[in-house]
Amino acid sequence: CGIVGYVGSQVASDHPLDVVLEGLRRLEYRGYDSAGVALVSPDGKLATAKKAGKLANLVEELDLRPLPVSTAAIGHTRWATHGGPTDVNAHPHVAGKLAVIHNGIVENFASLKAGLLAEGVVFLSETDTEVAAQLIARAYEVTGDLTAAMTEVARSLHGTFTLLAVHEDAPDVVVGARHDSPLVVGIGEGENFLGSDVAAFISHTREALELGQDQVVTITPDSVSVTGFDGLPAQARRYTVDWDAAAAEKGGFASFMDKEIHDQPHAVADTLLGRTDARGRLVLDEVRIDESVLRSVDKIVVVACGTAAYAGHVAKYAIEHWCRIPVEVELAHEFRYRDPVVNERTLVVAVSQSGETMDTLMAVRHAREQGAKVLALVNTHGSTIPREADAVLYTHAGPEIAVASTKAFLAQITAAYLLGLYLAQLRGNKFADEVAEILTELRAMPDKIQQVLDRADRVRQTARSMVDTTSVLFLGRHVGFPVAMEGALKLKELAYIHAEGFAAGELKHGPIALIEEGQPVFVIVPSPRGRDSLHSKVVSNIQEIRARGARTLVIAEDGDTDVLPYADEVFYVPQSPTLLAPLLAVVPLQIFACELATAKGLDVDQPRNLAKSVTVE
Ligand code: G6P
Repeated sequence: CGIVGYVGSQVASDHPLDVVLEGLRRLEYRGYDSAGVALVSPDGKLATAKKAGKLANLVEELDLRPLPVSTAAIGHTRWATHGGPTDVNAHPHVAGKLAVIHNGIVENFASLKAGLLAEGVVFLSETDTEVAAQLIARAYEVTGDLTAAMTEVARSLHGTFTLLAVHEDAPDVVVGARHDSPLVVGIGEGENFLGSDVAAFISHTREALELGQDQVVTITPDSVSVTGFDGLPAQARRYTVDWDAAAAEKGGFASFMDKEIHDQPHAVADTLLGRTDARGRLVLDEVRIDESVLRSVDKIVVVACGTAAYAGHVAKYAIEHWCRIPVEVELAHEFRYRDPVVNERTLVVAVSQSGETMDTLMAVRHAREQGAKVLALVNTHGSTIPREADAVLYTHAGPEIAVASTKAFLAQITAAYLLGLYLAQLRGNKFADEVAEILTELRAMPDKIQQVLDRADRVRQTARSMVDTTSVLFLGRHVGFPVAMEGALKLKELAYIHAEGFAAGELKHGPIALIEEGQPVFVIVPSPRGRDSLHSKVVSNIQEIRARGARTLVIAEDGDTDVLPYADEVFYVPQSPTLLAPLLAVVPLQIFACELATAKGLDVDQPRNLAKSVTVE
């Protein structure tokens, strides 16, 4: 989703709206499912246009019904969160003389909306944004100052948001606010810009201001003023952008793949956001399946394909442990054609980034025909699988552009864990404080993922030294097993290198015959702090393969020195509870595959023969 704001009068195009549309086009890479613009005409009238679907739909609408020339304009591309991707839910949202666009999620919108409804406010859309628009309009009636109104409302919102507003009374002003969601200012001469990132305005200016957390910015053609949510003047960092326009669209990263790998702390944090109440209990209102049905579920079957299926494999360990419900994980295309045993007491969980994978959709239909309840874990709003499922729990990874999945994987594990904890809470398997404890550990994961990203140079170096490698094996145990398979899949997909993931315990039953001098093997080592002897068993496996000539590339937890004598390379990750470790251990493997493929000169965003969503069976 993208945000653009502009004030000034572009001589070249003479229509500020064109500047905004061009900005939106440059932000298209962020993914969206509807688009809209708002401006205030010189005679002080608010005008808006918005359309579901691609920007072309909006442009067509503007051709049919042109908006007047203005000094200020705002534009938005929306990635649906609350409310499907329809014309009505598209931004801007209007409240009286004011229009608002918004990125992010307002967590407390339901309670704020209830208050407004009680006062008789009529809402046109299902969005959290319209609630913010109504609140700002009301605050403006009292203060008569758009900046003050925005500040007051920003203080009352929880969640993550960037908000932009224009008002009929101030035709050459755009006001923005940000909390945990990006907003940058572009500084021009006689004109100023706002954008979700610099790609929005890089063809006009490279001079930028990076707003700090909890700041409000007011731009006019000749001024930029920044204040805090406390209303006091605040500092923002000024810098000159040194990326070209193409790199800017990838946030300065070399590829979408690289960018999405680095987005992962946010993907996990956003998926956790807003799903607990003040007492720390999980509240998954979206899971609209009767609680009594969820309590009586006696089997869970996860259906998915590719990376999403590996997320399901990881989740199986956690859900069985927390809920004591048997969990099967099945490739969706196999499930459908095997006459599986499912009935009214089965909960089928369909995991899919795109929500469009035909194999998974067919499995959903089949499961429902058998009377099972289907819960979708999906990243893309408005997609088909959530529509056909009984309920959906969205992962908030944001749009994933690179074909091979990375951040969606981490978000899927996170969402599946939330589901597991929720079921445990519902069924009384875990006391509330135990659930709260695990949630606290989960909330610490984004920072730990960031640490893994910060330490990735050695992984990259190793990858670059391996461009001539023709085969890599991956070993893991317990939750490390699906991580090994996902590591192998990433390497196949991105670098076209033969790769296989094995359960470390299975080594002696066959795969060890593959080990010869110089064979690279990644080993994912479980925490030595775990309760059982898994750690020492995996360390023994490393010794066994090393003795047969393998080059051992070990992923281990900080402080684990037991692996040192047997590892050719160790990539340490921060300590975490065993069940959460996959969120860390997979990251070096993603970076390894991405870097190796890049060193081979391959297109990591669009690997050969693969499609992002496979809509055929
Ligand atoms: C395709 C993609 C994979 C993805 C799989 C499942 O094969 O190339 O990266 O994991 O589909 O996609 P989904 O959208 O259902 O998660």
